[in-house]
Amino acid sequence: MSGESNTKPNPTHIGVIMDGNGRWAKQRGHSRPRGHKEGAKATRAIIDACQELGIRYLTLYAFSAENWNRPDIEVKALMELLELFLNRETKTLIKKRVRLHAIGRIDELPDRARKALKKAIDATAEFDDWHLTLALNYSSRNEVLDAAKAFAQAITDGKISPNTLDWGDFSKHLYTAELPDPDLIIRTSGETRISNFLLMQSAYAEFYFTETLWPDFGKEQLQEAIACYRNRERRFGKTGEQIATQSPA
Ligand code: FPP
Repeated sequence: MSGESNTKPNPTHIGVIMDGNGRWAKQRGHSRPRGHKEGAKATRAIIDACQELGIRYLTLYAFSAENWNRPDIEVKALMELLELFLNRETKTLIKKRVRLHAIGRIDELPDRARKALKKAIDATAEFDDWHLTLALNYSSRNEVLDAAKAFAQAITDGKISPNTLDWGDFSKHLYTAELPDPDLIIRTSGETRISNFLLMQSAYAEFYFTETLWPDFGKEQLQEAIACYRNRERRFGKTGEQIATQSPA
């Protein structure tokens, strides 16, 4: 940057595709589950960092609907880690007044993980300042299908008319109905794919890809991503000239 201070706002909502746990472990001769364990540590640190930096909404892609295709031993380790994480972190979330949400086909999670999740969600339901969302058994395509089914049911029940359908009506049926759209999506580990994550919601998000593996991603790396985001010009379909002359919100 030129040394001028950047007055553009921080993102309100950051989504993260936490990738690279397996490679982190392999580089050190550890098992993949050990990489996920280190990934969980990075997850804790990033939740704290978001609060320190004033980021109110954080959504983490913790387990995709496609991740069931991994070896059984890894899926089991990930579900146990999730349960442990929830049981350990709930107290901290309450202390920090963070509300937990989950998106995805949650009823298909193993019982113990599902119960731990429900307990943590219920225990933090009263908070509104900070929002942590875990995407679990999540797939954007499944989300659209589930929303379409709910929408079709609402038509059958005579609650809405398909003729006046707009995005506002439809998006009320997405798992993310309570959340603002993400402003910034970060993917770690050098992969430059979206992998079925928040496809609808990220229509106008900025993307940030970094080589850093997830277990090595901390507050400093998050600040770099945010600085990069603040240097972007978000136009939402308008021209650069229109953006330059519009009065600040
Ligand atoms: C992708 O890395 C990561 C996952 C599929 C799991 C994400 C889980 C965590 C970050 C830890 C647990 C989090 C919670 C909330 C308990 P990868 O395994 O695909 O890495 P690779 O591409 O290097 O193999």
